[in-house]
Amino acid sequence: MIKPVRGTRDLLPPDTDLWNRVEAKVRAIFARYNFHEIRTPIFEDTSLFSRSVGEETDIVSKEMFTWEDKARGQSEKAQSLSLRPEGTAGIVRAYIEHRLGDAGTLQKLYLIGPMFRRERPQKGRYRQFYQIDAEIIGPPTAGSESPARDAEVLEMLATLLDEVGLRDWKLQLNSVGCAVDRARYNKALREALQPVVHQMCADCQRRAETNPLRVLDCKVPEDQPIIDRLPKISQYLDEPCREHFAAVRAMLDEVGIPYSINERMVRGLDYYTRTTFEFTHGGLGAQSAVLGGGRYDGLSELLEGPKAPAIGFAIGEDRLILALQSQGEQARENLQAFVAPLGSGMNRHALKLARELRRAGISADLGDENFRLKKSFELAEKAGAKYIVIIGENEVAADQFAVKDLASGEQVQIPRANLAAHLRK
Ligand code: HAM
Repeated sequence: MIKPVRGTRDLLPPDTDLWNRVEAKVRAIFARYNFHEIRTPIFEDTSLFSRSVGEETDIVSKEMFTWEDKARGQSEKAQSLSLRPEGTAGIVRAYIEHRLGDAGTLQKLYLIGPMFRRERPQKGRYRQFYQIDAEIIGPPTAGSESPARDAEVLEMLATLLDEVGLRDWKLQLNSVGCAVDRARYNKALREALQPVVHQMCADCQRRAETNPLRVLDCKVPEDQPIIDRLPKISQYLDEPCREHFAAVRAMLDEVGIPYSINERMVRGLDYYTRTTFEFTHGGLGAQSAVLGGGRYDGLSELLEGPKAPAIGFAIGEDRLILALQSQGEQARENLQAFVAPLGSGMNRHALKLARELRRAGISADLGDENFRLKKSFELAEKAGAKYIVIIGENEVAADQFAVKDLASGEQVQIPRANLAAHLRK
């Protein structure tokens, strides 16, 4: 028997009802904040990710699904391709490709879809997982650099998590500064690491040389006390970055969104500048980040595009669903009616009645004329129906139907014309 590939999984009903409910709510919220959907390819040129996310990150150095795509015919060249490990790089590539900045306004884009990382699978961590990603990107003249955009994004996220019903989320905030600050901070880290790095794990020893900031991502328990004593990024922010961060926090305070500062949170991708953030939830265990994001003011230029400061985030949809389920969120959408034909020749009448109900917006499922009444009741209950509607010869003749409320047991006769209204109650 062929098994699913490690780290992939099938999403089945009734869980998919919850996935769809969350996505419908999220799309409605995005529309209220004037975000519009973008769909980018699932695979791209490998160098898009290695340049954007960074060669030294875990994502690029260990986790990408990459293959050499052979040339077909003389007009094509062999090319290294990768499944997208995240959405931001592809969105910025599309922004440059289609000159979306030429409009002179902010682009507010969202993307929902699968991402791929070859991580060690565990609860909340898969090799194919889903992100709900949103980005605000545009020329500086459109206000893309303003701390007001950071605050708008964070306020939207707080509203989004509240409205999908997630309780007790926590927001952690940091600023990783601009390129100049980062260079100074990296230098300070390198110096501080020099006398201690030989006690650290092999990854940290390499990163201390190539990209010391990435040492802060280390999860090895023995390295943590050393990392805790390293210099803090806040000491290396220049005045404009300090002011930008202060303005973001002041706006969050104004609208009453609680947060805590976590100076070790540098995020596992190299493109970030200034504000970075994560929202966590206690119901998730070790993989507690429901979502992460931040500002990336230099990415467009790094990819040879125009200056286009930006901020965005990606929700781990698998984790959001797990967190909702950990609070007892019910998956199944309730079926309103189970139409039970009783006796031979009744299937066609039942189909006609179900058609009327479904066209009136009632969710209805159908039994079969060969089923005994007892079996129809069992099926209606298994389907979680609110009502069973019985349709036999007498009902067809009288054009009214026996309707039983399966929770209360109450049974009434309802004329065809009033049936949809009754079931909707
Ligand atoms: P990220 O922190 O790498 O950021 O991923 C965002 C979220 O995706 C995580 O917080 C987590 O919920 C989920 N996630 C990541 N890896 C896995 C996995 N293996 N299994 C399940 N869920 C996972 C980014 O991807 C950035 N592109 C976010 C961003 C957008 N920053 C600016 N704009």
